[in-house]
Amino acid sequence: MSAENLKRELSSLQKDLEKKLQVIASREELDNLKVEFLGKKGKLTGILKGLGSVTVEERAQLGKIANELKKSLEDNIDEHLKSIEENYYSDLEKLEWSDMTVLPSRFPEVFIPAVSRGHIHPISQMQRRLEDIFTSMGFSILDGPQVETDFHNFGALNFTDDHPAREMQDTFYTLQNHLLRTHTSAVQIRGMKKLKPPMRVIAPGRVFRYEELDASHEHTFYQMEGMIIDKKVSVANLLYLMNTLLEEIFGSKVEIRLRPGYFPFVEPGFELDMKCLICNGRGCAVCKHSGWSEVLPCGLVHPNVISAGGLDPAKWQGAAFGLGLNRLVMMHNGIEDIRYFQNANPSFLYQFDI
Ligand code: FA5
Repeated sequence: MSAENLKRELSSLQKDLEKKLQVIASREELDNLKVEFLGKKGKLTGILKGLGSVTVEERAQLGKIANELKKSLEDNIDEHLKSIEENYYSDLEKLEWSDMTVLPSRFPEVFIPAVSRGHIHPISQMQRRLEDIFTSMGFSILDGPQVETDFHNFGALNFTDDHPAREMQDTFYTLQNHLLRTHTSAVQIRGMKKLKPPMRVIAPGRVFRYEELDASHEHTFYQMEGMIIDKKVSVANLLYLMNTLLEEIFGSKVEIRLRPGYFPFVEPGFELDMKCLICNGRGCAVCKHSGWSEVLPCGLVHPNVISAGGLDPAKWQGAAFGLGLNRLVMMHNGIEDIRYFQNANPSFLYQFDI
């Protein structure tokens, strides 16, 4: 075959591929197309076999064209693969999304006469109230993944590999060496990296611990992290914030106590307990008969954590807290066992239909 004919065949190969790509919608079809064009017995190899019949100069020129064409065919195929994958997930979302809140109740009328549709879970109701309070104080809301890296959950928060404090939070690990986040503090570093200081953020969400369950301990529960980064931040700022928050939620002054608490990512660190409202301080299963419930540990962000977040600890200071949402709802509504939240018992849940 002449050099001119080979050139013409090479250039029509590109057009041929583009045309075929237009109707390809699955990964499998794309794999077949790749073999058809670029495989060992494919169209491109077939054309290149004709190179034996042209001069050395023409061969060099056609070889260059063929290499460029090969790269361009591969790029076209890769790009198409990307769009197939993107469409796959957006189609799946459209296909699988359903609005549970409009589904009729599965439970017979006699069992719960008032419930005929879904409603917002009491923990989500509290979360939304807190989000309103914090956004009105200039906080932004951040989200983070529930399956986390060791770095975000522990390493960057000043837990060294052999740090005994890792044992404070019994952890579920995944087979891929990730973990289910044990606290919303895992969002701190993401926040520092994403936003420019000064900043005020909250990060509500679900957390997991390999816990022995009792009236105040769940394996899956909810927290809300709060973090302020500014030029100057003090314990007084933190306490003011905590008090304002509790007063807003409970509608009056709440009896609290502050005691030293150890968390590797804050210095100093505190445990903020509120008087147990289930027993009014007399002692019950929820407060482990102490009269106080741990709801709001907090402290000033450790300089090592500020550095891990990419900020200069000589310029920036921080305060953080980690609110236990389940326990806050328990105190607010007089719920005497944390396990009610997750056992999907409609006669418990329907009391919170607002
Ligand atoms: C933490 O998780 C820290 N990340 C909080 C923090 C943030 C401290 C920022 C300092 C600065 P702790 O393990 O104590 O701390 O949990 C925080 C709150 O989550 C507790 O006060 C409690 O209200 C709630 N909590 C902890 N474990 C459980 C559990 N198993 N079930 C239900 N609530 C829990």
